[in-house]
Amino acid sequence: MKILAISGSLRKDSYNTALLKAMKALAPEHIDITLFDELERIPLFNPDIDPNTVVSVTALKNSLAEADGLFLSSPEYAHGISGALKNALDWLVSGEEFVDMPVAIFNTSPRASHALDSLHEIIRTMSGNIIDTACITVPLLGSNLMAEDIVEDHVMSASITSAINAFYVDTVGVNNSLIQCRQ
Ligand SMILES: Cc1cc2nc3c(=O)[nH]c(=O)nc-3n(C[C@H](O)[C@H](O)[C@H](O)COP(=O)(O)O)c2cc1C
Repeated sequence: MKILAISGSLRKDSYNTALLKAMKALAPEHIDITLFDELERIPLFNPDIDPNTVVSVTALKNSLAEADGLFLSSPEYAHGISGALKNALDWLVSGEEFVDMPVAIFNTSPRASHALDSLHEIIRTMSGNIIDTACITVPLLGSNLMAEDIVEDHVMSASITSAINAFYVDTVGVNNSLIQCRQ
């Protein structure tokens, strides 16, 4: 299984990025997680521009097309999701890559419920398939923990491993039932 992971934070010591890096490190061999690292190169969304003419947007669309699932983790800024992530998602709205894509949404701050709710609403509106059993909050705000510390934390790493496994099991289950419906 190939998973594309996007952190909504551009900050060097971002907790959201650290969480996704820890997920990559903790993922079992059959699950390959790739962090998208071109978020800040994506220009402001303009529906007048053909997405296929923008290199960074094409990279995002191609990465998504090759993925079996999407992991998202966004900071909350002024009760909204990060502008950088919303901007990237806006470029994907009209494309077919996103439709029915299994998505897990992660949160690194228990108090950031507005952004979390908003991200769920955006993904539902874009016809993504949110895998609820995999969506977890890992309380990192103020912890100073980076990816390697998270991996070494038994409680956090157990929670992350369970979430990744739940994503795999529920996604494979969804795909199997889709195949059965089509037969
Ligand atoms: C401009 C700004 C606005 C913020 N607004 C909120 C907010 O409305 N609610 C909240 O819970 N945290 C808020 N925060 C805190 C961030 O969500 C928090 O620092 C988070 O860890 C940033 O994500 P990162 O560590 O991945 O960069 C804000 C931070 C900044 C810099």
